[in-house]
Amino acid sequence: DGNVTSQTKQREQWGTQVGFMLAAIGSAVGLGNIWKFPYITGENGGSAFIIVYLFAIALIGLPIMLSEFLIGRKTQMNAVSSFKELAPNKPWYLTGLMGVAAAFIILSFYGVVAGWALNYTFESLTGKILSVAPEELGAHFGSFISETYSPILWQLLFMLLVILIVVGGINKGIEKWNKFLMPTLALLIVIIAIRSVTLSGASAGLEFLLKPDFSALKPTSFLIALGHAFFSLSLGMGTMITYGSYVPKDQNLPKAALWISGADTLIALLAGLAIFPAVFAFNMEPNAGPGLVFITLPAIFQQLPAGQFFAILFFLLLTIAALTSAVSLLEVPVAYFSDKFNWSRKQTTWLIGTIIFVMGIPSSLSSGVMKDFKIFGKNFFDAADFLASNILLPLGGLLIALFVGWVMKSKDAVEAADYEEKDTLGRLWYYVVKFVAPVLIFLVLLNLTGILTK
Ligand code: PHE
Repeated sequence: DGNVTSQTKQREQWGTQVGFMLAAIGSAVGLGNIWKFPYITGENGGSAFIIVYLFAIALIGLPIMLSEFLIGRKTQMNAVSSFKELAPNKPWYLTGLMGVAAAFIILSFYGVVAGWALNYTFESLTGKILSVAPEELGAHFGSFISETYSPILWQLLFMLLVILIVVGGINKGIEKWNKFLMPTLALLIVIIAIRSVTLSGASAGLEFLLKPDFSALKPTSFLIALGHAFFSLSLGMGTMITYGSYVPKDQNLPKAALWISGADTLIALLAGLAIFPAVFAFNMEPNAGPGLVFITLPAIFQQLPAGQFFAILFFLLLTIAALTSAVSLLEVPVAYFSDKFNWSRKQTTWLIGTIIFVMGIPSSLSSGVMKDFKIFGKNFFDAADFLASNILLPLGGLLIALFVGWVMKSKDAVEAADYEEKDTLGRLWYYVVKFVAPVLIFLVLLNLTGILTK
C-alpha cells in the first residue's frame, strides 16, 4: 500500500480503546519516568517534591492531555493540519510546526540515552557490568559515553528498532508492539519494586518517598515539577494530538486521559519504589543525578543475590520504556510529512528516522570529542534537552491551552472533549484550560529568564 495517494489513502485508526490507551501510555512512560523522575526527586528532596509533581499532573497535565486529544480526534489530522483545519488562515498551525521541530530535537538526544540503556542491557547479559569494581562504575559509565563510535552504534541500533515499529503503521506497528511491550514493562517494574522494598534497610528509602519534608523544596522545585509533568506525559508538541487523530469517535476521551496520566504517574512512583529503597539499603546517595540508574544501580545489583537477573530486567525495562516513547516521537513528523507530501509511510519513516539519527550524533559526541563545543554555555546534548524540555514543550502547552480555551468556541471544545454542556466536570476542565493552566505555565516560562529564581 506504499504508493497510494492521499485521495485513496484511508487514515488508520486504533483497533481498540485498550490498544489506543496502551500506545499513549507507552508514549508517556519513558526515560522520563525511569531515568529522570527518580533523579530529580532525589535532587529535590524526595516526597515533598513528589506531592508538588502530583499537583502539576492533575492540575495541568491531565487537562492539557485532554485538550490535545480533542484537537486530534475532532480533525483526524496531523499536528500541523489540525490547527489549520480549526483556525484557517491563522498562524496557530505554527504551534504544530514547533511540535514537529521539538520531535526532531527530543528524539535526537533521546536516542542517545536509549542507546546507553541498550548497551547496559547487553553488558548485563554478558555479566560485564557486574564485574566492574564498584568504585570504578562511575568511570566505566563516563568512559563509555565519551567514546566516539560505540555509543553512536548503540544509538543507531536503537533508532533502527524505532523505525521498524513505526514503518508497520498504527495497527500493525505501534498498537501491536505497545500491546506486547507495555504489559511486559509493568510486570518488570513490579518485580523490581518488590525486590527493592523487601531489602533489609529499605525503610529509610520508603521514608524518603513517603514522609514529606517541605523544607527540602527549593524555589525551582515547583518549576522543575511542572516542566517534568509536560515531558513525562508527552505534552506540548503534538504527540497526543497525533495519537488522538487515530481515535475513533465512539471512544471516551476524558476517561482515556485519566487512565493514561494515572498509569504514567503510577509507573513513575513504582520507579521511585524500585530505586530509592535499594539506594538507602546499600548506603548510597539519592542525589547522584543523571548517573543514578547507570552508576548507582549497577553497584546495587552487584551486591544483590541474583543481581545479574535483576540488572538484565532493569535495563530491559529502561530500553522498552524508551522504545515506546521514541516511537511516538517519530510518529509526529512521520504523520505530518507523509500527509503533506503524499509520501508513503515507509519512505517517510526511513527518511525522517535517518535524519534524526544523524542529528543525534553531536549529542552523542557531547561527552567526548565535542565536549568543548558550547552553545550558551551548554554542550550540544544539554542545549538540545534544555531547548526542547524547558522552552518548546511548555510553550507548546501554553499555546494549546490558549487555543482550546480562547480560540475554539467553548461549546465546540466542551463537546469535542466528550462532555455535555452542563457537565460540572466539563466546566471545571474548561476553566482550568482557559485560565489556570496558562497562568501557571507562564510562570514556568518566566522562570527561564531567571526572574523567579534570582
Ligand atoms: N514522555 C516521554 C518520557 O517520559 C518522553 C516524551 C516527550 C515522549 C515528549 C514524547 C513526547 O520519557
